[in-house]
Amino acid sequence: MTIFGDRIFTIRLLLRRIEASDLRLLAEWSNDPTTYGDYLSPEHLTVDQLTVQLRAGVLWAERNKTFLIELRDGTPVGTIHYWIRPEEPGAAVIAVRIASPEMRCKGYGTEAQKYLILFLFNRLDIQRVEMYTDINNLIQQRCLQKLGFELAQALPYADQQVQRIGYLYRLGRHQFVHQPIYQHHYA
Ligand SMILES: CC(C)(COP(=O)(O)OP(=O)(O)OC[C@H]1O[C@@H](n2cnc3c(N)ncnc32)[C@H](O)[C@@H]1OP(=O)(O)O)[C@@H](O)C(=O)NCCC(=O)NCCS
Repeated sequence: MTIFGDRIFTIRLLLRRIEASDLRLLAEWSNDPTTYGDYLSPEHLTVDQLTVQLRAGVLWAERNKTFLIELRDGTPVGTIHYWIRPEEPGAAVIAVRIASPEMRCKGYGTEAQKYLILFLFNRLDIQRVEMYTDINNLIQQRCLQKLGFELAQALPYADQQVQRIGYLYRLGRHQFVHQPIYQHHYA
């Protein structure tokens, strides 16, 4: 993993800070339900709303960052976002979306999550990483299993006013340190 300021390079991907020139694409994704898959609700953000968010620092703050995920040839494939829980500074939460359906199940989602997790544990003083997922989202649950997460809790949650039943998964620093996937950087 190589980190240059606001970029994280993985084997096949670049996770980078969002710029104004990305907002048209992000608005398109935000209004296209297929980019959310079956278990996330579209946010329906416009370019103007995203511009306000970008200018206000909502997408890139000290404890909260949204990255655009690109292939190394510059093709944008999705977004990944983390935030540090305000009430619990040792806990980070990640949310990920591979937007183009044809780009899913190629390992990009696992790879983006893996390298963001490495960043959080190795560069920030994080004690655990958490992720929420719909109980029916078997693909994401498979990713979380590959990444060493353990099921912590089943709970109802609201996603864009849609009530869902979700699982909360957790990866503690101890599990992170002992998970082989984080020792090998060929994938
Ligand atoms: C969930 C998501 C991030 C996963 O990223 P991805 O790049 O598609 O996933 P990967 O290719 O890294 O891994 C998918 C794994 O699920 C497996 N899988 C595919 N279909 C499956 C199914 N129906 N049931 C169980 N596992 C399945 C794949 O075989 C692969 O596992 P493997 O490497 O052991 O073969 C991506 O599909 C996505 O963005 N979906 C829409 C939005 C979303 O649901 N985001 C997550 C919200 S919590």
